[in-house]
Amino acid sequence: MKMSRRLALAAALALPMAAPALAQTQITIQHPLPLNSHYGAGATALKEAFERASGGRYNVVIQRNDNEREAIESVQIGTIECVVTSTGPVGNFVPETRNLDVPFLFRDTAHARGVLDSEIGQQMLGRFSARGLTGVVWMENGFRHLTNSRREVNAPADIRGLKVRTMENQVHMRAFSTLGALPTPMAFSELVPALQQGTVDGQENPIPVIVANNLNQVQRHLTLTGHVYSPAILICNPAMLQRMSAADRAAFMEAAKAGASANRARVSADEASGVEELRRRGMTVVTQIDSAAFQTALAPAFAEYERTLDGALLRRIREWR
Ligand code: PAF
Repeated sequence: MKMSRRLALAAALALPMAAPALAQTQITIQHPLPLNSHYGAGATALKEAFERASGGRYNVVIQRNDNEREAIESVQIGTIECVVTSTGPVGNFVPETRNLDVPFLFRDTAHARGVLDSEIGQQMLGRFSARGLTGVVWMENGFRHLTNSRREVNAPADIRGLKVRTMENQVHMRAFSTLGALPTPMAFSELVPALQQGTVDGQENPIPVIVANNLNQVQRHLTLTGHVYSPAILICNPAMLQRMSAADRAAFMEAAKAGASANRARVSADEASGVEELRRRGMTVVTQIDSAAFQTALAPAFAEYERTLDGALLRRIREWR
């Protein structure tokens, strides 16, 4: 039976307008820590800022991958778009970043953030393009401290003979072998089983990492060695950024900066409350070390860094005000 024209018009008006399907582009960002962590805070702030700025045309998916080297490789070959990683394994891709991994290079957080935000840090980001990567923005992991299950560490001699998990980073490994430890490099994904099984006695990481990963459950002693600053970085696939319009790329860069601010704010907050929290969870904490004694013990390693890294850059960083 034929519908009258009036009836057909009424039916058409009653139908809700079908919304045109929104074509969304997905950007996957991997990072090695729980979502409720300083990296999670950075990635989430980026996601919110960019999705808002793009009017929902981009969907940013945050995933955990606690093997940083693997995640960087995935960005390089383009199977994921971005990673937030410490510089731990980054020197194996962009060797110049190893200069930033030298122990006792940065006086404090303000010094580290200042250098990374200065021309020095920006030039370093520029080095990534030659390696098929884009260094987008510096984020932060924080100053690293030593934990172990054997004994209280008060002086460099207490480190002698400890099997310490380090990142896959030759600068850090050299420092620990100089102190007489047995550095054992491995991905973060392998750390907790290695501590549980006694393959290693200790590890070193910033307070936010120790808290977020409950390392107090497998480590008894914490010493606030602050022996090295651990920068983090957002690295993305260059082809993905090239595919964006200039306006979207600019919005992505702004969102990345918002991510870096949120990440740094969370590091500061976690550092302020974390030591007390770890004490509450049962760790013994040595808060004061003789930093000069550690630096003296590291003298042979420092001499090697001067030779094998960029001595002029190291001086520029040390003298930065
Ligand atoms: O120790 C490491 O491997 C890193 O500090 C970590 C925890 C993966 C964060 O970048």
